[in-house]
Amino acid sequence: MTSVNLVNKDVASAPADAVVLAVAATDDGPRLLADLPRALRWLPGALGSLGVTGAADEVVKVPSAGGATAGVLVLAGVGRTTGDRPGREALRRAAGAAARACAGLQVLALGLPAGDVEDAVAAVEGALLGAYAYSPYKERTAAAQKAPVAEVALLTTSPRDKELKAGVERARVLADAVAAARDLVNAPPVDLYPESFADVAVAAGKEHGLKVKVLDDVALAKGGYGGLTGVGKGSTRGPRLVSVTWSPRGAAAKVALVGKGITFDSGGLSIKPAASMETMKCDMGGAAAVLQAVVAAARLKLPVEVTAWLCLAENMPGGGAMRPSDVITTYGGRTVEVLNTDAEGRLVLADGLVSASEQQPDLILDVATLTGAQMVALGSRVSAVMADDPQVGQRVVAAAERSGEQFWPMPLPEELRASLDSPVADIANMGERYGGMLVAGLFLREFVGRTGGEGSPRIPWAHLDIAGPAFNEGKPWGYTGKGGTGVAVRTLVQVLEDAGKR
Ligand code: BES
Ligand code: MN
Ligand code: ZN
Repeated sequence: MTSVNLVNKDVASAPADAVVLAVAATDDGPRLLADLPRALRWLPGALGSLGVTGAADEVVKVPSAGGATAGVLVLAGVGRTTGDRPGREALRRAAGAAARACAGLQVLALGLPAGDVEDAVAAVEGALLGAYAYSPYKERTAAAQKAPVAEVALLTTSPRDKELKAGVERARVLADAVAAARDLVNAPPVDLYPESFADVAVAAGKEHGLKVKVLDDVALAKGGYGGLTGVGKGSTRGPRLVSVTWSPRGAAAKVALVGKGITFDSGGLSIKPAASMETMKCDMGGAAAVLQAVVAAARLKLPVEVTAWLCLAENMPGGGAMRPSDVITTYGGRTVEVLNTDAEGRLVLADGLVSASEQQPDLILDVATLTGAQMVALGSRVSAVMADDPQVGQRVVAAAERSGEQFWPMPLPEELRASLDSPVADIANMGERYGGMLVAGLFLREFVGRTGGEGSPRIPWAHLDIAGPAFNEGKPWGYTGKGGTGVAVRTLVQVLEDAGKR
């Protein structure tokens, strides 16, 4: 685990192996955003011939040639800046890219320009997020394997500042939570299955003082949780529903987070083609995010009661698998005609949403790698938010914006609802193909409970589709490496912090 130190030193005297400096891209070429010691005044003039442009994600290492205690200067691009200073997310990403490029070093100093405490904290957060590696399955002796940077040293003139220290502590908690969510996503599904995922939640509960309840396959079948039971039937490894609660005294609000936890999605009998299955260990990314958001809430002692609902199942085509045209009865009694067993996420979430609603929270957010249509609509870096009350959606979008995650509002068009009508059951699990992400959202809405009796308003709810952003199949960028990204954790924690202040 990478540690953080606040150090009252400058670029020249930073006790580190390398110092990160920011370079902005301007119309007049690259511009170094740092106060340089006399002995490094040659550097700005050399940027051009070094090929430095200041583009985002560009990292160029140069020897300090005696101009600094640290042997290496890491020139990290922040892209085009509006005004004099890079934005907070640009700093976060530049620090992350630099930390990735410096794997194998001991101490990395951050000499990035910070207009305020939050800028400085963003740089630390980015560096911690970038200093991540998933290596439990790599040969430990391999000399070629570089460990993440061991220590991040933030260069600051006020290392004792209370606000700065608190901010850095929050960054530490967030980075730990994101790393833990990434670990869960990256774990191979042979080892991470519903029961072992539940064990992880139980252990996290013990460590952080959370209340954890696990319903196993037998309890789920008995209790009428037909969504989880139906999806889990094709696997030899039974489903689980896990609730994890942080419940501080005098909580200002009560929030439920419902996560899709398909530990592997083969599609079931409506089996996926081989290429589409390659990344399907990521299909529990929603459950990983909600679990780690609650852990972070507890570590930050947020004044909000929050329960994560992990809807865990493995979607496999075994002999006991549910068939297309089967009808299942979800928790609470609503029946669903299963037209396509690959639309399984909404079935397990139905049980989770009804369970969460029973506790009458003030807000329900569900997080799911739910549809390929999300990727068609928004690509692999922008997640979708759907809510029937636009103000609830806006709360999520605003929190995402502050956290540096990209979430975009999407509609739930009423006219698409009819495509889910079933001739034999209350609803079908597949409807109109066009707008598939929105149709999935409309399906989920049916299972969100009401604040009172029949006809009363629904509990405020938003659905977050993170299908693409949960897993980086492409090149590393900013603070995001290949594989699991831990997306949604930081946004969820921000929503919880906001809820504590309402
Ligand atoms: N887990 C997939 C969605 C997914 C696709 C996540 C790509 C991440 C990357 C989900 O269970 C699924 O298979 N959805 C189907 C639904 C369809 C059958 C209605 C889809 O999107 O094709
Ligand atoms: Mn599926
Ligand atoms: Zn799925």
